[in-house]
This record gives sequence, structure tokens and C-alpha cells, in this order.
Amino acid sequence: MWSKDVTFLNGELHLSGISSSQLAEDFGTPTFFLDEAAFKSRALAWKNELNVEFGDSAGTIYYAAKSFICTAVAQWIKEIGIGIDVCTGGELAVALAGGIDPGKIELHGNNKSVSEIDRAVSVGVKTIVMDSLYEIERVAAAAKKYGKRQAVMLRLTPGIEAHTHEKISTAHEDVKFGFSISSGAAWEAINRVLDFPELEIRGVHCHIGSQIFGSEAHEIATDRLMGFMAQYRDKFGTELPELDIGGGFGIAYVSSDVTVEPRDVLPAIRKAVAKACEKYSLSTPSVSLEPGRNIVGPTMLTLYEVGTVKNVNIGNGVIRQYVSVDGGMSDNIRPALYDAEYSAVIAQRVSTAPLVNSRLVGKHCETGDIVINEIALPSDIAPGDLIATPATGAYGRSMASNYNHVPRPPVVAVKDGKARVIVRRENEEDLLALDVKE
Ligand code: LLP
Repeated sequence: MWSKDVTFLNGELHLSGISSSQLAEDFGTPTFFLDEAAFKSRALAWKNELNVEFGDSAGTIYYAAKSFICTAVAQWIKEIGIGIDVCTGGELAVALAGGIDPGKIELHGNNKSVSEIDRAVSVGVKTIVMDSLYEIERVAAAAKKYGKRQAVMLRLTPGIEAHTHEKISTAHEDVKFGFSISSGAAWEAINRVLDFPELEIRGVHCHIGSQIFGSEAHEIATDRLMGFMAQYRDKFGTELPELDIGGGFGIAYVSSDVTVEPRDVLPAIRKAVAKACEKYSLSTPSVSLEPGRNIVGPTMLTLYEVGTVKNVNIGNGVIRQYVSVDGGMSDNIRPALYDAEYSAVIAQRVSTAPLVNSRLVGKHCETGDIVINEIALPSDIAPGDLIATPATGAYGRSMASNYNHVPRPPVVAVKDGKARVIVRRENEEDLLALDVKE
């Protein structure tokens, strides 16, 4: 749960040797603290392990920008030499601002706008993953406009029910994404792509869902996609050279979970590819992946300050301790949206007080503003205590909002005993910046 550089010294949480009280004093709360070394080593581990397993057939690790991106992180991605998956013009703009070579950018999205497509083609992104018939025409038109031949992949829905929350499961049949293999939609899309000489079909893609443990779902997806690749070869006489099986690898949010490491899943995925090559008489395609959460998730923690504590009688004399922090659903919507679980500790001190049934809540004006629904916290927890919640790196700051006009928290990178802001805190001026006065 805690990233590598977190230690507890005399009961106080330290990140890269800096105490949480110092971090709170220097940067305020709530703040996301990002363990830079951990981020880089997780990204590198995916890249290295893909190379170890697949050798010459290793494709690209595309970091999924939606999990968290800012210019500094884009610069790290560039430095590490992996690729990036963007799914909007905004994410593309940050990737470019970070100096990422467009040849390492993959564009996703089920409803890319004409201008997003135009920008992507004009800067020369490596590949655009097709998600609708309309888009095939739009990408072809942009390629024609710029006199280019654009490499494309086809997003397929292989009909897999990944064991994760319904809202983050993406490859069963009844979804808005991609082209279904079983209904024949995928063949219609292939035929449409082949109509356009401006498009070069490179291969197939799928993303089966998020926060998935084990490799079984990805192995099944590999088999289904490669079965499709074999049918393509049978129909058109050539093989598709690329396979991209998306992201979705799980992380530990609570102590009963274990974060998936690349070496836990890549050998099995490599075997699944080899098995499918044999089964369908295909040569080994280049294999790419798009982990987002698994890279950034474990590398950030959120530091909050407790503002109020209230003991509420919830019936039959049962007391629940409500602990309110200075953030909540505006910096972590995941509990409200997906019933996501988190853990938390008092960061700046040890408490020997008895643990009591508690709920960690935010400062927003609604009951569902819950960070942790049920947690045992010391009964002496008090205003001014710092609370750290680990594993908030993925889809925390990236899904943050200004609900109730709460400024979004900053992101502070911590490395080698030094901390620096990489996304500054929003302020009142930012909150008013878009309003037009009558
Ligand atoms: N590739 C594609 C095409 C995706 O749609 C996604 C995530 C990823 C890769 C990265 O998935 P990851 O490795 O991070 O699981 N907001 C939700 C997650 C939505 C994910 C959407 N797509 C959450 O907070 O759990």
C-alpha cells in the first residue's frame, strides 16, 4: 500500500525522510505527495519486464495518462522512454508539453472530436485506436489533408466479464467501446479501414477493465484477439503485426490486497501469446500494454488535516466516530463512484488510545462524501491530526473537481529528501477565473 520511500520514524510517517508534519507545514493540506523514485521504477519495471519476456516482439508500454498526468510526469515518461496513451486533446497537449515524441503517443477515445483527430494526425502520433465507423472516415480525412498515411489499430470488445466493479469493466458486449468480435461489427470496421489508402491497419487492441488481479482475463483476451488476427490473415492473406491488450492491472488499496507486479503477469501473458501463435499458426506479434493505475497508483499518498470529530449514535447505543478532513469527494471521488476502499493512518503521531468504529469523511455538503466508509481509528483523534491515505495516485487528482468551489490540491513530488511542487494548489483566483461578471 505505502510506496517505497515511506517510513515510520518514531511513529511519524516520513516520505523520503521528510516528516509528514514538515510536509504539511511546507505545502499545506490536502496535498498529493508523489514518490518520484517509485513512479520511475514502476514504469521502468513494466518496460524492462516486457523486454525480458518478449524480446524482439516487445511492443510499447503506453502509460495511461488518464490515471494521472501533468507536464513533469510527461517529462519523466519521456526520460524513461516508454510511450503514453492519451484519450483527449487535453491529455495530448500535456504529453506534447512534456516533450514526449509523438511517435510514442497512442490516441484513444470513443468519441474523439474532429479537432482532436486533426491535431493528433498533424503532430504525427504513432497510432490512433479506432472506436467507431465515423472515426475511420474522420481519421482518413485528416490523414489525406496532411498527406500522411496514419497507422491505426482497431479497438475490439472480446466479450469478457472482468471481475471488477461494473463501472470500470469495459470489454463485455453491452458497452460503448470498440467493435464487437461476436456481432461482426469488427469486420465491418476492418473493411471500412481497408477502403482508405490513407490508413494503415497495424493491429488490434482491447482494454478489458480496471483493478484486475491475476492474468487470466488478459490471457483470455489475448486468445480472442489473436483468433481474430488469424481470421484476418485467412481473409486477407497478410498478418496484422501488432497486439495491444490494454491496462487494468490491480493495486493494493487496503492491506488485504497485493499490488500486481509486471513479473507476476507478463510471463503468463507471454505464454498465452505463444500458445495462440501455435493454435492459430501466427507469427508472434509485437505486444503492447497500457498500465495506468498500476504505475502511478501506489506512488502517491494524500495528506489531509482533521478539522472536526463527532461521535454519532447510529442506533441501539452504537457510536460511530465521524472524522472530517479538509478534502473529500473533490479530491477522491472513487469511494462515492465505485465503492472503492482505502486505508488511512494518523500520520504525525502514534496513538495508544483504543480503536473505535469510525468513518472518514470530507468537507462537502453531502452524505456520500466519504473517504473511508468503515475504519477503526483511535478514539483520541482530534482536530489538527494529519491523516495519510495511501495509494491515491491513480484517478484521484485526475478525477478531482471543484465541487463546492473547493480548490483542487497540489501534487508535490518527493525524491532524495527533497520535495517540490509539480502541480500547484488552486486558489480563489483560479476559482473565479472563468466567471464572467455581469
Ligand atoms: N487503456 C485504456 C484504453 C483505458 O480505457 C484505460 C482505463 C487504461 C488503459 C488504463 O487502465 P488502468 O491500467 O489504469 O486500470 N476511473 C476509474 C478507472 C477508469 C479506467 C478507464 N480506462 C477508477 O478510478 O477506477
